Amino acid sequence: MLNTFNIYYYDSVNSTNDEAKRIVYDHEEEGIVVCAKEQTQGRGRMGRRWISKPGNLYFTLILKQNGHLSSLAQLSFVAAVAVGQAIASFIPAEKKITYKWPNDVLVNSQKIAGILLETEPSLTDLNITYILMGIGVNINFYPDHIIYPATCVNENTKTPISCEVFLKDCLENIKFLYNKWQTDGFLPIRTLWLNQAHMIGHEITASLNGQLYKGDFKGIDTKGALVLGTPSGEKIISSAEIIFN
Ligand code: BTN
Repeated sequence: MLNTFNIYYYDSVNSTNDEAKRIVYDHEEEGIVVCAKEQTQGRGRMGRRWISKPGNLYFTLILKQNGHLSSLAQLSFVAAVAVGQAIASFIPAEKKITYKWPNDVLVNSQKIAGILLETEPSLTDLNITYILMGIGVNINFYPDHIIYPATCVNENTKTPISCEVFLKDCLENIKFLYNKWQTDGFLPIRTLWLNQAHMIGHEITASLNGQLYKGDFKGIDTKGALVLGTPSGEKIISSAEIIFN
């Protein structure tokens, strides 16, 4: 169970996930948070860069898990819903918050946050001990030369909020949802995510290992994999990039 957080603030790090990996064995307890004003080598999913200049929120929460690989995927939904709920508490209700599979958070179809879960030791080692939940939230700016539309929290609020205030709110949500996941399993988290799933019921294209699959986005299965309805039957995709059209 997560009870309290111990937040370490840094001015600048390579990546909060890397810094978390460096300090992970010094701490027995869960709930250590590494937060930095900027990252010089911020990472996104699929080996992409995550532009990490000062002004946005970059943090990694260290969780202890002796579980299976499937737990890792489920925790990315815990993170996405926690971030989505935090955003909802700061922006007007008419703005639409959705979750894009597997773990982006969007406001009015524009990306506002991303999540990168990693393990220590790395996934090639079957004895996973720690999960590093890396979260980046656009608070004050968003990169303008990226391929998908993006936004930031303060573009959507009447009064600007700070990264610190957002972090505290978000951590409380993570605590609640993570503890719920531990007691009640994935289903309640899955329901919350599905209620706000981006493009559910619509046609999407998923790219997996260079191959494109077109079909109706039907939802996620009990492990968090994407369920695509195709002319040749249902296709289950556990990790892919989604192109919406
Ligand atoms: C994505 O959408 O591709 C995931 C982006 C994850 C960015 C966060 S910022 C904090 C943590 N440290 C990193 O280097 N990446 C994650």
